[in-house]
Amino acid sequence: MASETSATSDEINFHTRKWVRPEDLNANGTLFGGSLLRWIDEEAAIYAIIQLGNGMVVTKYMSEINFVSSAEQGDLIEMGLTATHFGRTSLTMRAEVRNIITRKSILTIEKIVFVNLDEEGNPAPHGYTEITYKRDRLPSHHLGIKAPAEQD
Ligand SMILES: CC(C)(COP(=O)(O)OP(=O)(O)OC[C@H]1O[C@@H](n2cnc3c(N)ncnc32)[C@H](O)[C@@H]1OP(=O)(O)O)[C@@H](O)C(=O)NCCC(=O)NCCS
Repeated sequence: MASETSATSDEINFHTRKWVRPEDLNANGTLFGGSLLRWIDEEAAIYAIIQLGNGMVVTKYMSEINFVSSAEQGDLIEMGLTATHFGRTSLTMRAEVRNIITRKSILTIEKIVFVNLDEEGNPAPHGYTEITYKRDRLPSHHLGIKAPAEQD
């Protein structure tokens, strides 16, 4: 198991599961790469929000995407991410998608970089250097805490 004190980790935790449905297929009847990338981008955004404690994060960069093998309608797949580098304003992650049953890899992306933004949309330091495995950095609006101006 990954250590709670490690800054980054080689170990991927697979969180989100998907059931490959007809609307996710390409013209060959296998999983459409565009669907997979949309799922991964959303998964990475959620991961970055949880790690950086800020809902204002954007995808900056994705490295080479390796579609290792295909998936078919009805397949059960799972997506995993891990932080590989905490920069000043950025977070770099590695992603893998695999078949839940066979564990066969479907996709790998070595580098997905998200940037932490301020309210003006400019890169802002996030102040974190280590992975959290808890829910201790959640942005206040996700916790139902009103901003001072909104309070009664
Ligand atoms: C995100 C954005 C505000 C960053 O602006 P920028 O001028 O590149 O900012 P900076 O040069 O200060 O770089 C910000 C961080 O990104 C990193 N970065 C920039 N370009 C990068 C690249 N090509 N690859 C990897 N990291 C990169 C920098 O190293 C820096 O990280 P650090 O502070 O941890 O060292 C701007 O590029 C933008 O708005 N892009 C569009 C984002 C978007 O809309 N994404 C959704 C998909 S369309």
